[in-house]
Amino acid sequence: MAENVDRLFVHCRQLVTLTDGAPTGPRRGPAMQALGIVHDGAIAVRDGRIVAVGPTERLGREYRARDELDLTGFVVLPGFVDAHTHPVFAHTREHEFHLRCAGADYMAIAAAGGGILSSMHALRAMAEDELAARTERHLWGFLANGTTTVEGKSGYGLSLVDEHKSLRALQRAGARVPIGCKRTFLGAHEFPPEFRQDREAYVRLLCDEMMPALAPLAHYCDVFAEPGVFDRQQSERILQAARRHGLRLRMHADEIQPMGGAELAVQLGADSADHLGRISDAGIAAMANSDTTGVLLPGTILFLAKPHYAPARRMIDAGCAVAIATDFNPGSCYTQSMTLVMTLACAQMKMRAEEVITAATINPAFSLQLDAEVGTLHPGKRADLCVLDIPSWEAVGYAFGGNPVVMTIKDGVPVSANVQEQHPEWGASGRARP
Ligand code: NIG
Ligand code: FE
Repeated sequence: MAENVDRLFVHCRQLVTLTDGAPTGPRRGPAMQALGIVHDGAIAVRDGRIVAVGPTERLGREYRARDELDLTGFVVLPGFVDAHTHPVFAHTREHEFHLRCAGADYMAIAAAGGGILSSMHALRAMAEDELAARTERHLWGFLANGTTTVEGKSGYGLSLVDEHKSLRALQRAGARVPIGCKRTFLGAHEFPPEFRQDREAYVRLLCDEMMPALAPLAHYCDVFAEPGVFDRQQSERILQAARRHGLRLRMHADEIQPMGGAELAVQLGADSADHLGRISDAGIAAMANSDTTGVLLPGTILFLAKPHYAPARRMIDAGCAVAIATDFNPGSCYTQSMTLVMTLACAQMKMRAEEVITAATINPAFSLQLDAEVGTLHPGKRADLCVLDIPSWEAVGYAFGGNPVVMTIKDGVPVSANVQEQHPEWGASGRARP
């Protein structure tokens, strides 16, 4: 007798389950290549959770569903997990992009009062309702790009009331959009103008007033540790205070200048050290076999036209847990496309196709303590899926510049669909249009 489920997704040209590896924990080294591919694959879903994955032929016999969706011709992956984004902002900064293209430096623009401070002025002037509405649109944008779980940071308020407004806006937006959303307090993103002459006073404000007031609204605390912004000692104080208030830790580390940020993240037991374009050999050694995931953001390096892509190859070979993310923000990386980031990870950081899939799914899920819930298609996890119009899983990274995501499925329900052109040269017969 066939077992009843709510929904069956059938005839996926290739179903990338990642079930050849452990369901939880980070994947390191060669384990990043265990994809568990099923040809003509199917997924059975009940109550938003995966009941079974396997060949359509077998699941069609073993399960009966009220609802069946034919995904003929498409490659299906676990929904992407984007573990580093700044989606709460009030305006875009395209003029800075063109200033950089004309030769201006990112940190010089920031030092002159542009950059993060320009976003701060715009955000402070915006009411919470409007900010929440804009953030909600950004969350829908992630879904359209195949991302079903996102980490979002505050950090353009830089005062107690404006950081509170930012985290509230993100919380409200997250409640309205079918996407998994973890919130990060990034009050230590920059020194606001009123504290430029007394930086110590802002660090005290962060530790003594903002942290206790805002910790209930966030899961993580992050710091932009960078020469000229928060130095090593300030970063450490802020993160220690965050931990005392029950927050877990993430870090913008070694992005533009090396600063021992990766080493500090490991020393503090942070869940992630992000960017790492200038990580040192000692930093790689510290991260190897630690549970601090390296969240690499090659879109930012591209957009800032910097030469220093993170040394992903050496990090993977050393046994670091490696993830990739968009860093979506109005200043240094205005993209929500994990598939574009995958292209950059392959072409510029020399990662393998299998590795970028792992780095966009289970490894970032681990860095967000969501690896038991998402990141692979093991039975019991949420049925979060990304449906791609590409000829094979190896075309992850290969197909770039457009959005190959035709459908995004969250908790077993299609929540976003993009109509695409047909690609008859890929040889699919009877491609389903979602
Ligand atoms: O991750 N580096 C600091 N924060 C962001 C950029 C923020 C901005 O420029 O608005 C980043 O690149
Ligand atoms: Fe960032």
